[in-house]
Amino acid sequence: MPTSDRALGRGLIGLRGLPALAVRDLLSRARAILRSPDAAPPRRSQAVALAFFEASTRTRGSFTLAAQRLGAAVIDVSTGSSTSKGESIAETVRTLEAMGADAIVVRSAASGAAACAQAAVSTPVINAGDGRHEHPTQGLLDALALCEALGRDGAFDLTGVRLAIVGDVVSSRVARSTTLACAALGASVQLVGPPRWAPQALTTLAQGVSVHHDLDALFATPPEAIMMLRAQTERHGEVPLPADAREAFALTTARARALPRSTILMHPGPMNPGTEIDLDVALPERSPIRPIIRRQVRCGVAVRMAVLERAFTAR
Ligand code: CP
Repeated sequence: MPTSDRALGRGLIGLRGLPALAVRDLLSRARAILRSPDAAPPRRSQAVALAFFEASTRTRGSFTLAAQRLGAAVIDVSTGSSTSKGESIAETVRTLEAMGADAIVVRSAASGAAACAQAAVSTPVINAGDGRHEHPTQGLLDALALCEALGRDGAFDLTGVRLAIVGDVVSSRVARSTTLACAALGASVQLVGPPRWAPQALTTLAQGVSVHHDLDALFATPPEAIMMLRAQTERHGEVPLPADAREAFALTTARARALPRSTILMHPGPMNPGTEIDLDVALPERSPIRPIIRRQVRCGVAVRMAVLERAFTAR
């Protein structure tokens, strides 16, 4: 068994502690799939179960497509599952395993839900986002899209690259997983937001992570890449947005015009134009910088194929 398989296990709960070798193995496989979509061997006897207990467009759609492109059947219990009748997520995944699912993809508002699901079954569980914890396939697809945009997708080495992740960092599982993936490849990750959204404690996420509270000061030495995050209001309870969220931390057209044209712009979606980002900045045909938001989505299908393929072959 390759070192990376031992480190990764059969499912994928998070990227924390995952060696750079394991990240690079998955990205290499996803890159091969991106370049030649028919490179994935057809599989007929596999089944992928999707159990999304929180809304999703990109992740659910691309896991569905990834499974279908691998020739797998899809069991989707995301809407109308028996959790609405009081069934636990553990019992739901045991049921999906009993049906014969070869991989179970779980999304939940509860941090730790994917690990709990994995503890209940021997079928590989893939975390499709759990509360504020992690969203590992998003972290991998962001790393792949960034490496590709910078021409670093030969060795997947981001040494010397600065990635600024801006906005509601503390509520964002994407911010955690993307930081872990890009830091593992050598990037310096700058987490930027008002103190409540970007607490200093986030520097412990990985080596090369720093926290900043002044976006305009940070942009005086522009990073090579920026990822904007929406305010995750569904995780805020009654707490209102920081008063200066848009004025001080949004990527407005004026702010973007002051950046080098080569600056790469990422957004994991869903995007809220007019709040954390202006639509003119996000659209490639109008942007003064270089959005790769659609390419991130495309990379997501390939990454999810690579992750599912590994889950299948590890069984
Ligand atoms: N980035 C992301 O997780 O998007 P969805 O919520 O649409 O899946």
